[in-house]
Amino acid sequence: MQTVGRMKFGRGQCKAGQKATRSIHIPRVSSTRIVKIASAATAVQVTAREQIKSFEQYKELYEWSIRDPAGFWADFASQFHWEKKWAEDHFDYNFDVRKGPVFVNFFKGGVTNICYNALDRHVAEGHGATPCLLFEGNDPDRQKALTYAETLEEVCKLANWLKAKGVKKGDTVAIYMPMILELPIAMLACARIGAVHSVVFGGFSADSLAGRMEDAKSRVLLTCSGVMRATKSIKLKSIADKAVSLCAEQGFNVDTVLVYENDNAIAAADTPFTPGRDHWWQSEVASMPSTCPVEWVDSEHPLFLLYTSGSTGKPKGVLHTTGGYMIYSAATSKHVFGLQRGDVYWCTADCGWITGHSYLAYGPMLNGVTNIVFEGVPTHPTPARCWEVVEKYKVKQFYTAPTALRSLMRSGDEWVKACDRSSLKVLGSVGEPINPEAWRWYHEVVGDSRCPIMDTWWQTETGGHMITPLPGLWQEKPGSATLPFFGVVPAVLDEKGNELEGEAEGVLALKQPWPSTLRTVYNDHKRYEENYFGPFPGYYFSGDGCRRDADGYYWITGRVDDVINVSGHRIGTAEVESALVAHPSCAEAAVVGYDHPIKGQGIYAYVTLMEGVGHDGVGDDALKKQLVAGVRETIGAFAAPDVIHWAPGLPKTRSGKIMRRVLRKIASKEEEQLGDISTLADPSVVASLVNLRGK
Ligand code: PRX
Repeated sequence: MQTVGRMKFGRGQCKAGQKATRSIHIPRVSSTRIVKIASAATAVQVTAREQIKSFEQYKELYEWSIRDPAGFWADFASQFHWEKKWAEDHFDYNFDVRKGPVFVNFFKGGVTNICYNALDRHVAEGHGATPCLLFEGNDPDRQKALTYAETLEEVCKLANWLKAKGVKKGDTVAIYMPMILELPIAMLACARIGAVHSVVFGGFSADSLAGRMEDAKSRVLLTCSGVMRATKSIKLKSIADKAVSLCAEQGFNVDTVLVYENDNAIAAADTPFTPGRDHWWQSEVASMPSTCPVEWVDSEHPLFLLYTSGSTGKPKGVLHTTGGYMIYSAATSKHVFGLQRGDVYWCTADCGWITGHSYLAYGPMLNGVTNIVFEGVPTHPTPARCWEVVEKYKVKQFYTAPTALRSLMRSGDEWVKACDRSSLKVLGSVGEPINPEAWRWYHEVVGDSRCPIMDTWWQTETGGHMITPLPGLWQEKPGSATLPFFGVVPAVLDEKGNELEGEAEGVLALKQPWPSTLRTVYNDHKRYEENYFGPFPGYYFSGDGCRRDADGYYWITGRVDDVINVSGHRIGTAEVESALVAHPSCAEAAVVGYDHPIKGQGIYAYVTLMEGVGHDGVGDDALKKQLVAGVRETIGAFAAPDVIHWAPGLPKTRSGKIMRRVLRKIASKEEEQLGDISTLADPSVVASLVNLRGK
């Protein structure tokens, strides 16, 4: 692990692959920080509205997209419905904190609605009978299908119910649901009436849900009785009730809760219910009118909040707005997956994360495709499940995370080969670096060496793909996200913020906004500016390290901040540490990531016990279990530490700062490569920690 300034470079697991057939020169753009770019009246022949057929066409479009973002994106946006067109000078921004507040506007003056464009527009164009949502239950015998017209009706009913409960444009609505059709329906219903949805992943704990509802001031919560995940039932409503009580303890009242009865998991009779506050979805929403007028909103009207982890303990409410997010999620879905109306497309992500927002709920529907909503897990009832679903629905594009691939790869090729995968055309990967071994398995075994692999690098904050191949347009390299999407200008910076040219390794920053740039951190614009624009004024700082090779391809090397990526889930080490310290026996905790064969990274927690607990600072297995249970309770099961390492002392500098570099080396059993530890206040701590490994 190399240290640059105060940032750490992650694992450099990506090796240069084979030579690309062509190299690409990514043009430099001016570093003007406050710009107003009018839509240039260029006589452009190419358009990104059609399928892109060649690398030359990509280059031409890419150059247009960064030279004239206003014109390029206006051209793409023109295929959607705008109740009022955007102004000529619709795009402006400031990325430089030294010059004033950071802001981004796209399609300023334009008025639209994303739900209208995802549903009504297709129905109005005569595609109401096209299947829109296909539900595949945890149990393979449970399935459902809704056409675009039927989905629109369901969305309208729920939108009417929300309005009847007093939800108005700009109000935030919390959604805590499993992967059933009602989850994307709920998101679209909020968007239809201009309400701002805040989806909380169903794996989060009551504490996490409460914190998010309180921060966003969500008085209305949409939830579900429960869900089956493989053979385990999860009582979501009980967790939701606890969250509502926690909010009340803090003086914040969630006054309306809508509950969907998912009776294959938890029936109504077994679900706690508070009359007056709680309402049953099936009995109340079904009787609502099936049409609902659209609330037309300004392009910059907030669309949703999605909380994500950062370097500090408190998750950030990333805010995305309507017009730019709509256009970018539509454009990336179309070009990265080669979507065409009627394709059967499957993204396995949960709508609780950004991938489920952009590449399940919005982007694909904006393109009129048929979307699978999968409630289960890839290994249930057998490791053939994904491939059975591919065969059953003739899936054309399949998008998943490396962690799922690694676990399926372990189960053996026979599960894959037993199913017909001839419908597959494009395979996608997201959320974490894909190791070349998993990449090759995906390509050769799943895709029979005929499907290109889209290794898409992006983030909750970017709202859509930033660096990604486009199918068949240039050669991929296993482990590289390859080249930037339209409008994206990556920069590799050294620790001082100098841009490195050509082949280089450093931190990954972005030089100019793209339509779905996050617009703020909810209620904390200062944190937005400090976190993303503070480290390198003039640039959006991604928090990732990267390398650019001789062909101009980008290789993401992992986070350079205190964020770890476990099974594609982003977890702040500070969040896990504060959950551990909440245990009465824990005096101090330090959490680091370590290489994990399936999860990508695992969570390794060093725990210092309170005086008098354990023997010489060493606890027992029962205490380990309690500490892990505490993290599950506070954050959610997915954040549970894999290893608890007793630490009577932690390696600290004389000024009291924990040297995490040392902790990472001990966690990965590489203590012989510790480097200089002379600045440690007590260097003997290292040997004592090594001795306690496995205790
Ligand atoms: O470290 C990068 C990693 O996931 C982080 C973003 O996490 P999140 O906001 O939860 O969004 C996940 C879904 C986009 C990034 O900072 N990451 C995401 N995609 C890749 C990746 N790392 C390497 N390769 C990728 N394709």
